[in-house]
Amino acid sequence: MHVVVNAAMSADGKLSSRRREQLAISGDEDFARVDRLRAKSDAIVVGVGTVLADDPHLTVKDDALRERRRDDGRPASPARVVVDSSGRTPTDAAVLDDAATTYLCLSEAAPVDRRLALAEHAELLTAGDDRVDLLRAFGALQEQGLERIMVEGGGELIFSLFEAGLVDELRTFVGPTLIGGRDAPTLADGEGFVAAFPTLELDAVDRLDGGVLLTWKTNDR
Ligand SMILES: NC(=O)c1ccc[n+]([C@@H]2O[C@H](COP(=O)([O-])OP(=O)(O)OC[C@H]3O[C@@H](n4cnc5c(N)ncnc54)[C@H](OP(=O)(O)O)[C@@H]3O)[C@@H](O)[C@H]2O)c1
Repeated sequence: MHVVVNAAMSADGKLSSRRREQLAISGDEDFARVDRLRAKSDAIVVGVGTVLADDPHLTVKDDALRERRRDDGRPASPARVVVDSSGRTPTDAAVLDDAATTYLCLSEAAPVDRRLALAEHAELLTAGDDRVDLLRAFGALQEQGLERIMVEGGGELIFSLFEAGLVDELRTFVGPTLIGGRDAPTLADGEGFVAAFPTLELDAVDRLDGGVLLTWKTNDR
């Protein structure tokens, strides 16, 4: 399995404002790059916080990329995965439409009524007691044949993936905006590290959309 975390952040490292609404931090060049990365992936993973904040669809948008996937015998868009301990994903969320297969990674704490409601729209995986155990959940995804994984946020999930040692690559578009705010989400939130900080190796630096795309490889995986 190969896990790429991709996110767009402001010049001061924020994924959004303190209102947690979806913001256009990048532009057309970066959207096209993200679409190409989606098209190369077997699955796109987000945390439930992102589903609740942004209601993303997480499909491949470009017709030619969708066509190429079909020609290769793959579905037009990769599978979508939501990490959602208690099944808070709304049943009318865009990720639950029939444009692609969707997996919901739940914990044992997800109530039965939520499981029943969500099972009509998605494949349910259970890993962890109160919170999703990411190592086990990603193992279950691998068993489904999902090898090339793209993670699209948000900050809570990204931190936990680094904590679990699951990240191979980090691609961050750093845009020409300053958002600020101590409560605005950053690239890696969660508890934060106080020691044994994950270290990265810079692989590429590319200018696009008036900002910069940084491609990092992790050292600890
Ligand atoms: N700029 C970008 O590229 C970008 C991309 C994505 C999102 N965003 C922004 O980021 C914000 C949302 O990010 P977020 O950090 O609030 O939410 P998130 O990372 O998308 O989701 C976090 C939630 O996932 C669930 N979860 C279950 N198991 C977990 C685990 N082991 N580790 C971590 N989380 C786990 C938790 O909710 P439960 O306890 O209920 O399970 C947790 O609150 C929004 O403002 C959105 O606009 C920006």
